[in-house]
Amino acid sequence: MIDISRRNALILGGVGIGGVAIGGTGFVVNQKLRRPEASKAASGVALVQPPELRSSDGVLTVALESSSQQVNIAGRDVRAFSYNGGVPGPTLRVRAGDILNVSLRNGLTDPSNLHVHGLHVSPENNSDNMFVTVAAGDSFDYQYDLPANHPPGVYWYHPHHHGFAADQVFGGLYGAIIVEDPDPIPTSRERVLVISDITVDSSGTIVTTTAMEKMSGREGELILVNGQLSPALSAGAGERERWRVINACTSRFLRLRLDGQQLTLLGIDSGRFESARDVDEVVLAPGNRADLLVTARAGTSSLRALRYDRGASGGMMGGGTTSSADVALATFAVAGAGAGGFTAVPDQLAPRDLRSATVTARRELVFAMGMRGGMSSGMMSATINDQAFDATRIDTTVQFESVEEWTLTNTSTLDHPLHLHVWPMQIIEQDGRPVESAIWQDVVNIPARSTVRVRIAFDDFSGRTVYHCHILDHEDAGMMGIIQAL
Ligand code: C2O
Ligand code: CU
Ligand code: CU
Repeated sequence: MIDISRRNALILGGVGIGGVAIGGTGFVVNQKLRRPEASKAASGVALVQPPELRSSDGVLTVALESSSQQVNIAGRDVRAFSYNGGVPGPTLRVRAGDILNVSLRNGLTDPSNLHVHGLHVSPENNSDNMFVTVAAGDSFDYQYDLPANHPPGVYWYHPHHHGFAADQVFGGLYGAIIVEDPDPIPTSRERVLVISDITVDSSGTIVTTTAMEKMSGREGELILVNGQLSPALSAGAGERERWRVINACTSRFLRLRLDGQQLTLLGIDSGRFESARDVDEVVLAPGNRADLLVTARAGTSSLRALRYDRGASGGMMGGGTTSSADVALATFAVAGAGAGGFTAVPDQLAPRDLRSATVTARRELVFAMGMRGGMSSGMMSATINDQAFDATRIDTTVQFESVEEWTLTNTSTLDHPLHLHVWPMQIIEQDGRPVESAIWQDVVNIPARSTVRVRIAFDDFSGRTVYHCHILDHEDAGMMGIIQAL
């Protein structure tokens, strides 16, 4: 059972040792698609895996095209956004030290760009640069060089153009990135589960979001797993599966359970815990990921997202509450004996621990919400230190290779999951209580009216990037700041 106060726990192994080595040579295009495994599910439509693109000889070169077209979502034809015609887009599988080349073509009618969420790569030039705009109809070639010590784990990609991020992600633009383990864990099979939400009207069009919904952060009526509604998964008793779970919802928190099955959490966001943990549930804020082992026990279980209360946007604004009801996301049917006998997962190297580090600077970030220009204006303000995002202003300048402590205070009545690009955060203190182990994440929830303290090591990369609330409606409304490491 994972303690709610440590729900987004992550331990990051091996990052922060300077030096960026690029493994492998050559630029081999690998477009070999791995087809989804045949299903033996008795009921429901079998869970389909997105196509997989895998690096070879240290390189993965991918062409991604975003477009608005008819795609199959929740078993229906929906006019949605997609990468390469699929929701989610293809899964990109790479290794530490690899070069990932992505040629993005923006087939939308709005500006867009690409972000590789959680990857520890340069924020400059044509790497994970948040200041790139790819105009409608234009293309841009990204190149991400993963350090040789890049942590393995579950990452994802999505558009990140300020003002358009929420609509484009809600509309279907997201996909998984897996950084493989140096030593694979033996399993019967591996699955990617990209969980997203969407609202579609009877004509198959995505419903537009009201200002009120943006205020609390939109939640779609349908919760999808790989674009499917209530897909079926099946396994033999004793089999062990690796589930790579991504919360790609625009605003919805996921409190996931799979009662009746044995769940072992290997890590959250990037890297692996020192020791794998048996858990009953996993809570993922928008943007968080879970790396899970499921050991199958006979019987049929339901993967559920339980009610999660992330606060209310204030009665006066009529925003209402944001506690979603329990929802069944998928069924997991276990029958017949499979090949079992898997051994326990060996421990990893202890993660880095900044609790004993020398802190070179401390700063406070205050997250607040309100109405701009009075209650009747209908204009939400979502600010960090009283300021809304401004692409021409640098909010925070940090010293390259320093360690900082940030006090994150949320004065509002809604949770705000803070995400920092490039450098993961170690959670030091939650609401005055010290955290007992080294927990690293790239999305850290700051619950309503509370304070969280984190430490960050600004290692390996200098340059300019952003931090923001991963409720993407808040990010688009301005709850984002620019950070520069010099
Ligand atoms: Cu997943 Cu700045 O985003
Ligand atoms: Cu990100
Ligand atoms: Cu927020």
